[in-house]
Amino acid sequence: MTALVHETAALRTSLEGRGPLAVVMTMGALHAGHAALVRAARARVGDTGTVVVTVFVNPLQFGPGEDFERYPRTLDDDLEVCRREGVDVVFAPSAAEVYPREPVVRVDPGPPGSDLEGASRPGHFAGVLTVVLKLMNLVRPQLAFFGEKDWQQLSLVTAMATDLSLGVEVVGVPTVREPDGLALSSRNRYLSADERAAALALSRALQAGAAQGARGSEAVLAAGREVLAGASGVRVDYLELRGPGFSADPRGGEARLLVAARVGTTRLIDNVPVRLG
Ligand code: PAJ
Repeated sequence: MTALVHETAALRTSLEGRGPLAVVMTMGALHAGHAALVRAARARVGDTGTVVVTVFVNPLQFGPGEDFERYPRTLDDDLEVCRREGVDVVFAPSAAEVYPREPVVRVDPGPPGSDLEGASRPGHFAGVLTVVLKLMNLVRPQLAFFGEKDWQQLSLVTAMATDLSLGVEVVGVPTVREPDGLALSSRNRYLSADERAAALALSRALQAGAAQGARGSEAVLAAGREVLAGASGVRVDYLELRGPGFSADPRGGEARLLVAARVGTTRLIDNVPVRLG
């Protein structure tokens, strides 16, 4: 049975006396990527554990002119996905429940919060970390599952858990893709058929770049950028390499190749691991 709760008091009651607790935080419009996080959570806590999914479109992480208003809100469908995946509790609070007042105190993501996504979306990661910390405090999980799809977000949440001693284990889950390589995203539903085809340039560029790993970072970036340069209808925001822990120095070992681009009016991001020679 999947319980749906909208209020914090009801959430606390529904979680009382439960076994090990894992949370999957989402903004809804659930797809197979979210479902993979739920499965990973269930695999860790087992049948006696509890899996909580939060569904909340967080106004704090959207900038002016971004898609907060038009972001898909599909709670009935989301509940269906959660039931199918055996989620124990869905917490879908209102904005007033999460922010009884406009928060004065917010989490400072530090310098990595102004890199890449943070440079394109000022204040975005302060908004993300503030809501993630709030939801951690409301749910009080032992484990929290985040997708590698949002690599910078995963890196920052992991850093916050360490630096602020949250006592929560942050677990990353590999990106789920369509058979043709497009990373699943709630924003894919904004794409027309032509845009959907153009959007494939992102994953192709990442694959082309990653294939050059043994030849070093310059070769990786050149190969990726060549694919993007040949793609029509794709306005590239960045294609960059970052090292472990989102360091600016990607030399040696496991790095990450990250891309962001606008296709039509839709902004898409993706990334892959790269083994640098
Ligand atoms: P949302 O975009 O709904 O994503 C919720 C979680 O699902 C994130 O951890 C994200 O990385 C993961 N996810 C999305 N697409 C995925 C895919 N194709 N494969 C694997 N995981 C995927 O990210 C957010 O919401 C918000 O910023 C949030 C953390 C909820 C804070 O508001």
